Amino acid sequence: MLKALRTRPAETWSLDELLSACNWDDQAHVAGAGLALAENGLVEIKSTKTTIWELGPEGAAAIENGLLEQRIWNWLTSQPDDARGMKDLQSSGITSKQETGIGVGLLKGLGCALEKGAFVLPESTDAVIVTLVARKSFLEQCENNSDEADLDDELLAHFRKRKGLIESTEGTTRTWTLTDLGRKLPNSELEERLQVVQITPELLQGEEWRDADFKSYDVGLDAPIPAGGRPHPMMALIERIRSIFLEMGFDEIDGDYVQTAGWNMDALFIPQDHPAREMQDTFYLTNPEKIDIENKFLNDWTKIHEHGSDTGSTGWGGSFSPDESQKGLLRTHTTVNTVRYLSETPDVPCRVFGIGRVFRKETIDRTHLPEFHQIEGIIMEPGASLPMLVTTLKTFYEKMGYPEVRVRPAYFPYTEPSLEVEVKWRGQWLELGGAGIFRPEVTEPLGCKWPVCAWGMGLERLAMLVLGLDDIRQLYISDLEWLRNQPLL
Ligand code: PHE
Repeated sequence: MLKALRTRPAETWSLDELLSACNWDDQAHVAGAGLALAENGLVEIKSTKTTIWELGPEGAAAIENGLLEQRIWNWLTSQPDDARGMKDLQSSGITSKQETGIGVGLLKGLGCALEKGAFVLPESTDAVIVTLVARKSFLEQCENNSDEADLDDELLAHFRKRKGLIESTEGTTRTWTLTDLGRKLPNSELEERLQVVQITPELLQGEEWRDADFKSYDVGLDAPIPAGGRPHPMMALIERIRSIFLEMGFDEIDGDYVQTAGWNMDALFIPQDHPAREMQDTFYLTNPEKIDIENKFLNDWTKIHEHGSDTGSTGWGGSFSPDESQKGLLRTHTTVNTVRYLSETPDVPCRVFGIGRVFRKETIDRTHLPEFHQIEGIIMEPGASLPMLVTTLKTFYEKMGYPEVRVRPAYFPYTEPSLEVEVKWRGQWLELGGAGIFRPEVTEPLGCKWPVCAWGMGLERLAMLVLGLDDIRQLYISDLEWLRNQPLL
């Protein structure tokens, strides 16, 4: 490119001129070579911001059929004097209904008057014709994408006010000029060297690369963001939560969506007449309608629910129904997983967590879905206590990036004491889940040896915080544009 520039010393070159002088057809070549020359002080690049005007959505039709005022003018001048009324225009088919009003304004602007509902032509029609021709050629200029600097100011101001005929885009125009150094540097000091831009296996297999000149990268330049495959933000979040709990020494557990009312609720000392068990909150199944539960548990739950335990509880009273217990349902919380896990190994200390889907009959809105996910966990060991529970949750949220956590008293039928966990986000406290120490009415029938700290929280709630959403549905509508632009978690 330097050679081409030196053929015409003191001049400024445009992109098009350089492309043809170098016999290139890719403007990236000019940009790249020009930049390299500029870095060595051989050329100076000037960029100017330009505004380019082109036809808007209505522009092409206006060129093809004539501008509205041109069409009306043609009609007016071919009508007899007594047939230039508004009514005549409306019935002529020259203009559409919406255009008539605008057209009247345009013709008044050209010097026509409206008297008793009829157009009156100006004395001299020459001026009108000159204006119409100028407007037409202005549009044709825009058809070829014109720099604002090349356009007539008055006509531009006129067309800017009209809808859809022209529109502008901002661009940058560059020029390249040889510097003194670039002009005077003797040819003998110029050496043509091949610069390697891309490293290929072929290049590395040969010997050429040893002496090659490698082009440096400017990592500060804007570049398109590649849109490749990536995990869904929810999957990424689940992975992150999983690795935090694993890091904190927890093991992961899992469970089925299909459970019994017994394990989902009775084992948790939720009374059988609790409102949340009603059909309107819980998805009961017709298939399987009934799932067997070991008698040992049914008997223990009956005793506990009707009369309480040896530790002083009086139970809920009334009569417990083992049939109700064996009803099939879709789990309403993942606490069913931790309770079943305890029932299997009640005499082994544990720290376990699980992340799973749960189901509730919720009406879908900004903050509710009938299917969502919970993050659940328990610690059972000698000396498991409320401070240990609070510290564990604080540590978890801190690792998630929410260092401010507070707990408030709450109520769950299966924990005592019970807590609500809140984190501070943008100056506000947001409730993210529940926690507590399982009551003896829960742990005794399971045969637990030690106290159990337990918690459960909503994953989507947390996702809304992490992704800054105010509508939970955004997570599941598969909006590719949105998905692509989510931060990597
Ligand atoms: N299961 C409760 C819920 O769904 C959360 C919770 C879990 C509360 C464990 C206390 C202990 O909201």
